[in-house]
Amino acid sequence: MGLSVTLVCSDELSKGANSQWAQGGIIFDTSINPAQLKRDIVAASDGTSNPAAVDSLVEHGQAAVQSLLLDELDVPFDREDSGDLKYTREGGHSDKRIIFSKDLTGRAILSNMHDHVVGLEGVSVLTNTVAVDLLTLSHNSVDPQDKYKPITCIGAYVLDTGTGEIWAIIAKKTILATGGVGQIFQNTTNQKGVVGHGVAMAQRVGARLIDLEYIQFHPTVFLKKNCPLFLVSEAVRGEGGVLVNARGRPFMDAIHPMKSLAPRDIVARSIHQELIASGENCVYIDLTSMTGDFLKERFPSIHRRCLECGVDITREPIPVAPAAHYSCGGVYTDLTGRSSVANLNAIGETACTGLHGANRLASTSLLECLVSAKLTAEADRDDVEAGDFHLPDVRAWESPDESPDEVLIEQDMRQIKSTMWNYVGLVRSARRLQRARRILRELEQEIGEFYSGNRLTRSLIDLRNAVKTALLVVHAASLNPNSRGSHYVSSERDDSEVPLVSLDELK
Ligand code: SIN
Repeated sequence: MGLSVTLVCSDELSKGANSQWAQGGIIFDTSINPAQLKRDIVAASDGTSNPAAVDSLVEHGQAAVQSLLLDELDVPFDREDSGDLKYTREGGHSDKRIIFSKDLTGRAILSNMHDHVVGLEGVSVLTNTVAVDLLTLSHNSVDPQDKYKPITCIGAYVLDTGTGEIWAIIAKKTILATGGVGQIFQNTTNQKGVVGHGVAMAQRVGARLIDLEYIQFHPTVFLKKNCPLFLVSEAVRGEGGVLVNARGRPFMDAIHPMKSLAPRDIVARSIHQELIASGENCVYIDLTSMTGDFLKERFPSIHRRCLECGVDITREPIPVAPAAHYSCGGVYTDLTGRSSVANLNAIGETACTGLHGANRLASTSLLECLVSAKLTAEADRDDVEAGDFHLPDVRAWESPDESPDEVLIEQDMRQIKSTMWNYVGLVRSARRLQRARRILRELEQEIGEFYSGNRLTRSLIDLRNAVKTALLVVHAASLNPNSRGSHYVSSERDDSEVPLVSLDELK
């Protein structure tokens, strides 16, 4: 049976998503050495991954890439002269098992996906439309008897950001695929507006959330005064780049047997320590083991973007520092995308099956998106075919006419981001978390009043969800005193450690 599907996209279809910016690649050949791949995922997670989720990814991953990305979408992955796929490595991988499209893998996938999706029968795409809140039987039905039913999702209110109109989309199944939370931090690799919309909306209807303290910081993000931050793929180190400090010393050699290719949490924290010890703003990726021609051909986008900022990577090292990158936690789901709320699913970075535990292995995220989307769609199709759904009318959205003050919104957002960066970053402590909670609680109250007194706009929705997500991350971090993977809690004694540099403070 073909289902009727509505895609709600806050931007244009395939724009505005972090996947668009994914550089490194996607694990493909899960059959090369599946047991070793599982060990690598678990080792990267500091031993905390959910084994069932790891097994599922490794079992279904290869077929998902083959059927959708290679056979159906014909994504232009890099190939050898023989026509065979090229493979690369990233941090924490024991084997070369990642396929890639130069340093723009996400863009190559999404571009072909876009052309495929717009032609699909039964799929309608709403662009520049943003979800405001989920609808549930108990909260939104016009039938008062529905409040006695178990919490069941029946769709979402959405806002057309062009016209300002808000309406309800009623659905048998609602799938959250809103990406991660990176934009609640000052320095991040994430796209604008990625503030945990799915997490915040799910929390408001009482869905279970897990592992939110596990925010992965990517170790190597381009950092130079007056330049935008952008990711410098781990694949650069996978091809031979070496992390060095300002004196040119390869500091990872003494820290981990995989040196510059150690798992991300270890590399990011080692850079943090190196910066504290040296007083510098950044470390460097030394590229001298690769020729200029190779670098330009293999990493055209990184080469161009660095050059635009005055760094010629064919001649000089790349200045980098860590930035918030990936949320390992999220809306709890089983392996078929089911959350704890009936008929509400989550997939990709929004969801948490426990695959990544406390720290994610590189290049698992695009693969997880594919596998979780496929398994969720299949389970939903079966449910819809078998099911009996109660879809009542819901109350219309009521909104004040007052326009919100954009200056206030921007200022509040800045405060959230700097609070998270300074107190809930790579190194946390009980005292810093307490401080963050106090600031964010006060802001949340103000923002709540602001939200109910003004006409809804995209930036106001972002702000409301950002403060909610930030508080949820702080709460999760405060409840977990154990340093594992990407969640590192320092003792009170270490509280004097300076937080990472922000762009505004660059010398
Ligand atoms: C990268 O290219 O380093 C990022 C890819 C990922 O996060 O898996």
